[in-house]
Amino acid sequence: MTHPEEHSGTGPTRRTVLAIAGIAGVGVVAGCSSAQDAANGVVDSATSSAKEAVKQAIDKASIPVGGGKIFTDQQIVVTQPKAGEFKAFTAVCTHQGCLVSKVENGVITCGSPCGHGSEYDAATGQVKVGPAPAPLAEKKVTIGTDGIRVS
Ligand code: FES
Repeated sequence: MTHPEEHSGTGPTRRTVLAIAGIAGVGVVAGCSSAQDAANGVVDSATSSAKEAVKQAIDKASIPVGGGKIFTDQQIVVTQPKAGEFKAFTAVCTHQGCLVSKVENGVITCGSPCGHGSEYDAATGQVKVGPAPAPLAEKKVTIGTDGIRVS
């Protein structure tokens, strides 16, 4: 008499409900991931023009004197410390790998939203202010009639 009651009890039913809830939970997480991927796709397409610019050669006029330009897709930063003098460095900070965020007044800064305030000399890549432990690696710059190429 007690056997049918045990089989028809709520134990297995509760487990089934929890299992379904668990699967639903995973589904929700996966949904968030997809939304994030879509957002990343938007970011990628926004930087594709920068990628194209680097492939084709960078217009010298697009690099301000005393400043620079960050190409996030290629993870490089191109600077013009003095008129007509162009330099390029990796844009990946040596502290924790964030991309540097701005270049002005001869300084490359790794700041918000990812970095922690490290500053590098825009002419040499050397650390001016930590916590970065090492300089930005310099890239080869070639200036042709069509603009600047970085390799
Ligand atoms: Fe650049 Fe921390 S990652 S300062």
